[in-house]
Amino acid sequence: MAANSPSLSLDSEFYKPADAFFREHAQIGLTYDDVTLATLYSEVLPRQTNLETILHERLRLRIPVISADMDTVTESPMAIAMALHGGLGLIHCNLPERQQLSEVSRVKNNVHGLIQEPIKIAPDELIGDVLGLIEERGFSFRTFPVVDDQGRLLGLLSGTVVRPRYATIKVADAMTPRRDVKTINSRDLGKSPIATADQFFSAHIGIHKLLVVDDTDRLRGLFTISDIERITQERHSQLKPARDAQFRLLCGAAVTATRNSTGELDRDRILAHISDLVERGVDVIAVSTAHGFSKDVGETVRLIREEHRELPIIAGNVTSGEGVDYLAECGANVIKIGQGPGSICTTRIVAGVGIPQLTALYVAARAAEKKGVSILADGGITKSGDIVKALTLAHGVICGGLLAGCPEAPGQLMEINGKLYKQYRGMGSIAAMQAGSAARYGHSSKDSMRKLAAEGVEALKEVNPPLDIVLTQLAGGIQSGMGYLGAGDLAALREKARYIQVSPAGQRESAPHDIVEVKTGN
Ligand code: XMP
Repeated sequence: MAANSPSLSLDSEFYKPADAFFREHAQIGLTYDDVTLATLYSEVLPRQTNLETILHERLRLRIPVISADMDTVTESPMAIAMALHGGLGLIHCNLPERQQLSEVSRVKNNVHGLIQEPIKIAPDELIGDVLGLIEERGFSFRTFPVVDDQGRLLGLLSGTVVRPRYATIKVADAMTPRRDVKTINSRDLGKSPIATADQFFSAHIGIHKLLVVDDTDRLRGLFTISDIERITQERHSQLKPARDAQFRLLCGAAVTATRNSTGELDRDRILAHISDLVERGVDVIAVSTAHGFSKDVGETVRLIREEHRELPIIAGNVTSGEGVDYLAECGANVIKIGQGPGSICTTRIVAGVGIPQLTALYVAARAAEKKGVSILADGGITKSGDIVKALTLAHGVICGGLLAGCPEAPGQLMEINGKLYKQYRGMGSIAAMQAGSAARYGHSSKDSMRKLAAEGVEALKEVNPPLDIVLTQLAGGIQSGMGYLGAGDLAALREKARYIQVSPAGQRESAPHDIVEVKTGN
């Protein structure tokens, strides 16, 4: 690269770093399509780039993409698929609290290396009790180690006998006895427990569970063949999973500033639910509301922070530096930025408020830097290029509409005129608010339909391919952008980005034009 090239000063007159660019455009709200990024000298190939993002020291993602906490986007299948590909899903809160807990459990129990705290049962329980436990906790597995009151292994209750027809039989009479249960001493797991378990399952045809015990025969863990097989396959996949320290998939859950019947913040209920979520292993709580720079939201964040000093908290949404300062001071670690950019949002039309996303991100990013918190660009992402632009200012993006058509999103397929669709609705749409999300928009769930001012619409999305394909394409696009800017990682992308505003003709030029398209780019 010609370091002192005379062209450099000409370039810097046109292609400006964030501070110069956004301050020069302080009188206008800009969003993704209003700007483009300038290419820079690069020694980085797209495939060499690192997409890891650290939202908090206890919240590291392999790709900076989060699925939105919306009832037509993220329940456990989406959260599992997101984490398996290195991102994060935020389980929405438009469902009974118990159900949200089960959804979190499904993600956290999805694929373990070693399950360190397997669910155990006692020998004098009935099979009917075990069936009740499965139903109550929403377990997707039916095989349970049986232990005495000291935690010593007595046997293994196989899923094949956990059936209603055996409901009145005692666990002790139905279990495989200790002498026939395959175990390994925790001392013998070696440096690579997964490889040890993998070898064990290859050597023991037909055995699908391996229990880990200590010298006193107390149960110390459990391996399952399906987990081990999936983990070994993952090593070959392009996008690696996002896991916690115990090798469980990462999972987030949304809560809102719930009020009690007298209209006050329901502190006890919020705290009890957060404790339950933490017990299920949730990695991050998102306090999700339409107006995060508000008393109830700040108090909710404070409340959670006081009880759970180490728990990562996402909070939002805001679009101002003051909003970021406020939530950070209340104890949030990650702030959601976006008011009205979402594909199903009508906040700007109904309420007349909200800020175009790139300008909001710039203002928020500078405040966040000072407070030592990270920010997420929430809403309005329609293509990978938008994500690249967002990541020049934010640490990650939240996507709703881009993922709502995937098979992993909740909801049935609908066929209309030979095309397949899935439902996608705003959490501020009438239907979603009546299903429970009214508090997110500052309404009471008891408000009559007449009183609810909708800030979102109900829509359809054409079905997408499975999430792994969508995420692989998005990640590929982000990596291309980073390659063009010579940015090996996301910190370099934030540091190097140079912007220029695009004219309406420039916007038209940016998309395919003057052709008859026979195959779309994706
Ligand atoms: P996208 O563009 O990815 O946006 O579909 C998803 C984000 O939009 C927000 N959201 C709403 N905003 N009214 C709003 O003004 C709504 O009804 C609504 N529902 C969701 C939310 O931040 C989400 O992540």
